[in-house]
Amino acid sequence: MMTRPTDLAVATSVLALRRAVESWRRAGERVALVPTMGALHAGHLTLVEHGRAAADRVVASVFVNPTQFGANEDLSRYPRDAAGDKAKLAGAGCDLLFMPSVAEMYPDGFSTRIDPGPLGAVLEGQFRPGHFAGVATVVAKLLLQARPDIACFGEKDYQQLQIIRRIVRDLDIPVAIEGVPTVREPDGLALSSRNAYLDPAERHIAPALHRVLREAVSRAAQGEKPGEIAAGANAALLQAAFAKVDYVAICAADSLAPLERLDRNGRILAAAWLGKTRLIDNLPLDPP
Ligand code: PAJ
Repeated sequence: MMTRPTDLAVATSVLALRRAVESWRRAGERVALVPTMGALHAGHLTLVEHGRAAADRVVASVFVNPTQFGANEDLSRYPRDAAGDKAKLAGAGCDLLFMPSVAEMYPDGFSTRIDPGPLGAVLEGQFRPGHFAGVATVVAKLLLQARPDIACFGEKDYQQLQIIRRIVRDLDIPVAIEGVPTVREPDGLALSSRNAYLDPAERHIAPALHRVLREAVSRAAQGEKPGEIAAGANAALLQAAFAKVDYVAICAADSLAPLERLDRNGRILAAAWLGKTRLIDNLPLDPP
């Protein structure tokens, strides 16, 4: 079924999505896919703009994927704003919104799961068991449903981006994966749908995550060892009044293997809690 509640076309079935994308591709147009879970902000819209610059048509998907949420996570309270999302996507020049139901994505009897392997077990995977299998499975489905030429993902979720690159390579999915730099608030806080959970006091503390990571980058430039930098950043986050730090890790930028020396391109990644809200962020770490 295809409807036009605003000036943006909406597909709710895989069939309608395929028909639209196939007609564009038959006309020789390149198609970009931007997968999201909705509650869209300027970070998501940058992905749409990236898609518009790289392709002739942009399809965005909005699907709050239940299989990537743990039992005690925020699935039931995850922010939802279908009307706002449609208006924002129309304004950003998106051509089609794919908004499937849970039953469309996971019909009765659905049982396949893509396990991204070791890359999905470290960092976020250690604290969110099963999360990346849920992400890998739904992203593989979206890529095979839409069959875009390119798909855009944010560096904000850096481990997710690397896992998606891995599964696309491992499963020979014919799509180019493009990573897009993180969009931030003026005070450095990475835009995230979950920022809506922060109360004013927490919102005031939140930019310290980015600040601490930037300090780590300048320490690395001065030749300090990854182990010391990560320990310093961990302490600085607690000092800044984060309630708990899940991890601060310095890893190889591609494989996410821990780096003991900064002898190749690295990435510093962190996850920390403010009250009930878990924030993540990361920055590139180049060899000094
Ligand atoms: P969601 O959190 O909605 O994010 C959708 C896309 O927007 C992801 O690629 C994410 O990295 C990107 N994004 C989020 N905040 C950003 C920011 N501040 N700057 C740039 N890009 C940003 O990530 C997911 O949804 C899901 O796991 C999904 C891939 C859709 C699979 O369900």
